[in-house]
Amino acid sequence: MMKGNSAARLSRRGFLTTTAGALLACGMPAWVRAQGVAPKGNKLRMACIGVGGQGLNNVRNVAGEEIVALCDVDFIRGGGAFHQFPNAVRYRDYRQMFDEMADQIDAVVVSTPDHTHFPAAMRALEAGKPIYVEKPLTRTIGEARLLKEAARKAGVVTQMGNQGHTNEGTRLVKEWIDAGAIGTVTEVHAWTNRPSWPQGIDLPAIEKPPLTLDWNLWLGTAPWDDYRRNVLPFNWRGYWNYGSGALGDMGCHLLDAPFWVMDLRGSVKISAESEGGNKVAAPKWSIINFEYPARGGCPPLKMTWYDGGKKPPRPPELEAEKELPGGGTIYRGDRGVILVTGDYSDSPRLIPETAMKEFKRPEKTIPRVHGGPHKEWINAIKGNGPAPGSNIVEHSADLTEFVLLGNLAIIAGQPIEWDAEKLEVKGMPELNSFIHPSHRIF
Ligand SMILES: NC(=O)c1ccc[n+]([C@@H]2O[C@H](COP(=O)([O-])OP(=O)(O)OC[C@H]3O[C@@H](n4cnc5c(N)ncnc54)[C@H](O)[C@@H]3O)[C@@H](O)[C@H]2O)c1
Repeated sequence: MMKGNSAARLSRRGFLTTTAGALLACGMPAWVRAQGVAPKGNKLRMACIGVGGQGLNNVRNVAGEEIVALCDVDFIRGGGAFHQFPNAVRYRDYRQMFDEMADQIDAVVVSTPDHTHFPAAMRALEAGKPIYVEKPLTRTIGEARLLKEAARKAGVVTQMGNQGHTNEGTRLVKEWIDAGAIGTVTEVHAWTNRPSWPQGIDLPAIEKPPLTLDWNLWLGTAPWDDYRRNVLPFNWRGYWNYGSGALGDMGCHLLDAPFWVMDLRGSVKISAESEGGNKVAAPKWSIINFEYPARGGCPPLKMTWYDGGKKPPRPPELEAEKELPGGGTIYRGDRGVILVTGDYSDSPRLIPETAMKEFKRPEKTIPRVHGGPHKEWINAIKGNGPAPGSNIVEHSADLTEFVLLGNLAIIAGQPIEWDAEKLEVKGMPELNSFIHPSHRIF
């Protein structure tokens, strides 16, 4: 049952600051609120949940609109945003924010730790608001399916914060492979130098939470635990109850292009090697193999993920003086190899360089995104552009599901067979509690 520390027992109204800016925001034309579409020149009224860390970057990236509400469970961590946008109404609890301001908000940005993406985003969708949610979309596969359904029903503009999906490099890889630049792809390798936070560890010692933090609200729907040293900020990534390890953190970046190019949806066999993981924390490193059967006239495909310092075998096509980068992707086809350097599908090259020089680039067929993922989302809300590429219904819920399957294989400790139709691992009902964990009432 829920327990609360002294901060959690403070009145939810106790941290509300009403400002002239928020009152002015009520002057937005009614049809803007009703349809979620503003005429050119009009600003959307933005509410941001989780405004420290990446949240502050996101607030700045939507600050061309009007920031009307900022919500953070820690008034020190959120202090930078509060200071920069003094006219925004401040909240600790996003539920209170929606209860009190839903009719004064046009769109919502969620940048909390992974375990709070789902409940906060659901609340926004229930209120009919367009959402921008950080990656991974959700912490669990069950939540990704539920959020996808809710987004479909809400019919609002959505975007996940995997910024690489707006990149030129992501489009180039897809256009090149679709045009047959390397023939039929049979292997994909993707790797990251993360984790740069503790993994493969036990829970640290219990401590008193800082006075500025509402620990009960930070935990949200996660199982109750006492506040522990060094879990936040940022390091929560390594703990299964809050984050999704190196794979969940970087997979939605590095595996985005492979997922898009190769359409890696559906049932798949997965096996994982890893070290140091346990029931509470993700492993120090992992190597995860996804094996897709032959589909649509294409031969079987093997996709391998590496983290924690592991890398794929060096491709023989790479020139002797060149190193594999810290993070990247290799696509191997029956007629060539593409190496992508960087975490966001930044710069694809055919290797060796002689192959790149001889390569006749196909025509660019995929529309380009100008201005990054926030702009793409805002333009779509205003009716000035198409649905964002990483929208929940068509892309990011399925991408997140695919990424999180790797963690299921790590937790299973044996090869697994994912049944996408039934939303279960064949013959392993004990994994259901990781697919659909219960949510604490807080
Ligand atoms: N797209 C990117 O390149 C990128 C980069 C970094 C982080 N991220 C994502 O951003 C999210 C946050 O990561 P971070 O490193 O900034 O974490 P963090 O712990 O540094 O910051 C999280 C912020 O959210 C606040 N918060 C926590 N629970 C909250 C709640 N229930 N309601 C309101 N505020 C709450 C915290 O107080 C803090 O200010 C993660 O999902 C992460 O994957 C994305």
